[in-house]
Amino acid sequence: MPIPLITLGISEGFSAIPYAYTATKLAAVAAVIAALKYYFGGARNPAERVMHSKVVMVTGGTSGIGASIVYELASRGAQIILLTQHPPTDVFLADYIQDLRDATNNQLIYAEQVDLRSLHSVRQFATKWIDNSSPRRLDMVILCAGTQSPRSKTPDLTEDGLVEDWQVTYLAHAHLLSILSPAIRAQPPDRDVRILVATCSSYLRGELDFGSLEKLTTGATMDSAPDQTKKKDPKNRKDQKEKKDKKKKKKKPTDLYATAKLALMIFAHNFQKHLIAASKRGDEDRPVNTRVLLVDPGFSRTPGMRRWLTDGSLWGLLLYLLTWPIWWLILKSPQQGAQSFLWAAMESPPALFYSSSSSSSSRGHIVEGSEKKKEEGGWLIKECRRMKFLREDVTDEAVGKKLWEFSEKQIEAKEKESALRRAKEKKKKEEKEKKQK
Ligand SMILES: NC(=O)c1ccc[n+]([C@@H]2O[C@H](COP(=O)([O-])OP(=O)(O)OC[C@H]3O[C@@H](n4cnc5c(N)ncnc54)[C@H](OP(=O)(O)O)[C@@H]3O)[C@@H](O)[C@H]2O)c1
Repeated sequence: MPIPLITLGISEGFSAIPYAYTATKLAAVAAVIAALKYYFGGARNPAERVMHSKVVMVTGGTSGIGASIVYELASRGAQIILLTQHPPTDVFLADYIQDLRDATNNQLIYAEQVDLRSLHSVRQFATKWIDNSSPRRLDMVILCAGTQSPRSKTPDLTEDGLVEDWQVTYLAHAHLLSILSPAIRAQPPDRDVRILVATCSSYLRGELDFGSLEKLTTGATMDSAPDQTKKKDPKNRKDQKEKKDKKKKKKKPTDLYATAKLALMIFAHNFQKHLIAASKRGDEDRPVNTRVLLVDPGFSRTPGMRRWLTDGSLWGLLLYLLTWPIWWLILKSPQQGAQSFLWAAMESPPALFYSSSSSSSSRGHIVEGSEKKKEEGGWLIKECRRMKFLREDVTDEAVGKKLWEFSEKQIEAKEKESALRRAKEKKKKEEKEKKQK
């Protein structure tokens, strides 16, 4: 078929070939779309590592990017512990795990209930984990859960009375790592332990104002905008309303999500320092074997992204469906979003841990002739290579210390409040049962 067409084109000219111009135009459009799709798909993970016998703990491993990471690691034989908000007895979760086991041919996939909206639930799981008399093996912790409330809605408060975006995205993860710290430090020195923390470029918009953070994270500011509806001048009232809306918007969960991501990055960076300090404590002075790696997956077509784009509304969903080809083109698939995580999880230690003097060169691999200096983690990884932080406060020691203290204080206060509430509820229940008897 092509040979007669080519002969026709040569002998009688290009226009003699039926539909030649149309086909050329279509081919050009397809090539441009394919090139754009390849470009927006981002870097592919080139690294491989034997994951058999590695124990990997994952939050947010049941959806989007987290689910893709879990699938890839489980396919390579890793033992997966999914920390989910649902109890393991949940039929959907049980089905999901069974399907995953069948698809990856790996029976070592389990779930533990850890609802990040409850600090008590995090503590229950983590203390149970560290209570094991001989420390349990732990090769990797992947913190991938996160939530971002729709922009136009008042965000939900958690069981502990904190804004969901803040607690699920940041505070509960900080709580989990803090409690697991002894178990992480107890891993043998020759074990290459990695903690992968999902971050997002929205951290650049985060604002860590410790003066107002408590109010912001408890949702107090969302209802406390001054009531100016009593003003009589209608024009003025309109202005006031606009001002109020603007103010409300400024304190919206999008910003709190960004702030939570910023806090998570600062905390993760400090957690690395804490591990380093612990490894050098007392007589011990061994190189730290745990690296904290902050991973930015890039914008991906996940349920979380869909919720953000649609703003959690039906109209938004309709618009999203109508514009779906655009999102298909410019957003990564969850599998593509998982690539930087897989690189951080599987890249060989020399290439990952030794840095070249230029961070943007050669995908983080050692560059011939560059300074081979062993660094101790706390890096940002994006597009399967190490990047520089674009905000100085991420690595600022004073900010890190302040955040650490703030988080500890907030966790302590909220845990106390929740414990009192639970005790009261229990008492009430017991009294009710007594009466009934
Ligand atoms: N998607 C993007 O474009 C993008 C861009 C930059 C960074 N990120 C970051 O990458 C990570 C994954 O993003 P994604 O879009 O794949 O997320 P996603 O699809 O929205 O999934 C979020 C995960 O968090 C879990 N989760 C939510 N609330 C929880 C709770 N209370 N307790 C325990 N788990 C809870 C969810 O569990 P259930 O399945 O049980 O609900 C789910 O597995 C997030 O940290 C996100 O901030 C994403």
